[in-house]
Amino acid sequence: MKYNFADRINHMDSKEISQIMGTLSNPKIISLSAGSPSMDLFPVKELKECANMTYTDASSSIFQYSTAEGFLPLRNWIVNKHNLENNTSFNEKNIVISNGSQQGIDLVSKTFLNKGDVILCENPTYTVALSTFKSYECNFLGIESDEHGMIISNLEKAIESVSNAKLIYIVPNFQNPTGSTWDEIRRIQLVEVATRHNLVIVEDDPYRDISFVPNVHSSITKFDSFGNVISLGSFSKSLCPGLRLGWIIANNEIIGKIALAKQVTDVQTSYILQQQVYNYLTKYDFQKHLKNISEVYKDRCTLTCNLVDEYLPESVRYKKPDGGLFIWLKLSTDVDTLKMLPKAIERGVLYFPGELFYTDRSTKNCLRLNYSSVKKDKLVEGIVKLGEVFNK
Ligand SMILES: Cc1ncc(COP(=O)(O)O)c(C=O)c1O
Repeated sequence: MKYNFADRINHMDSKEISQIMGTLSNPKIISLSAGSPSMDLFPVKELKECANMTYTDASSSIFQYSTAEGFLPLRNWIVNKHNLENNTSFNEKNIVISNGSQQGIDLVSKTFLNKGDVILCENPTYTVALSTFKSYECNFLGIESDEHGMIISNLEKAIESVSNAKLIYIVPNFQNPTGSTWDEIRRIQLVEVATRHNLVIVEDDPYRDISFVPNVHSSITKFDSFGNVISLGSFSKSLCPGLRLGWIIANNEIIGKIALAKQVTDVQTSYILQQQVYNYLTKYDFQKHLKNISEVYKDRCTLTCNLVDEYLPESVRYKKPDGGLFIWLKLSTDVDTLKMLPKAIERGVLYFPGELFYTDRSTKNCLRLNYSSVKKDKLVEGIVKLGEVFNK
């Protein structure tokens, strides 16, 4: 049988990512590649108790079909947290619960993108977002960033260079893959430029709660007076990814369309799970949990930086992140990290080659290291191995 697959499924395919995913389950290989939080930090006992409470105490309506927007008490809880942290004034009508931030990206794409539309994004950026956007047959303009965020003059030139710019996609806090954070001035300038050009900004912010510094910059929604910012959030990094729980916050008109997209995609996110997480958030000390996991990740991050200084070539450059799960290494320009990957796997260590995060795959000499998912002894072993690979 010769199958006539849709073009979009081929846009989603990356043989390199499949190879990395295939290697992840090999217990002999130390993986510094995945974007996973640490399994030993998941509040499993508490979540089990919350699941029991859900099945014993909750109203039977949560076992029924319900509205696409999501479980009202959870929506209120998330919106209140967002408003408190960012001085915004959203309400329960401004939010849709999604199956993780990943589904948020997909629903926004479904709502806004026509074939041939142009997405402006950081370069490098979250590679699965690129694949999602590609599946809607859009094109990209990758915009260079410096240590303060996207370079706004370049963004403006790029917008003006095409007739069909549609969305600006950014990860403003502890970015995947670079670990970098936008400062407040760039956030304000971004909104100003997007508003002037009638573009929607998609702020993808799943790392916000994993901060190593006391104050995290406000969400871009704080600076938005015209309703053109969509904010995506997630419990994947702060609680655990297996829950598949995230959210989309936006103005009424946008959120109405996104709720429609959600309904035709999967009707609703499980209300049973939403009740379970709501129980956790209201009966346990979530802030304490966040403080605890952020301290562990900060410690692992510092150790990784020290090990990189000690074991990798002197030419390696990086900026220590203020939060999140990743460090981005720039090696000397003659190194091709994708070509080096089989050698690293042979040595028993896995990293994520930087090229896969670029819209045009033009930069070959970078790689992303994840420090959250392995314990300290394995971090040491992994980076010593990495040193052996790149010092040859
Ligand atoms: C920037 C970014 N957005 C979205 C996601 C997907 O997260 P979720 O598990 O909430 O779908 C990830 C996961 O690594 C990510 O790094």
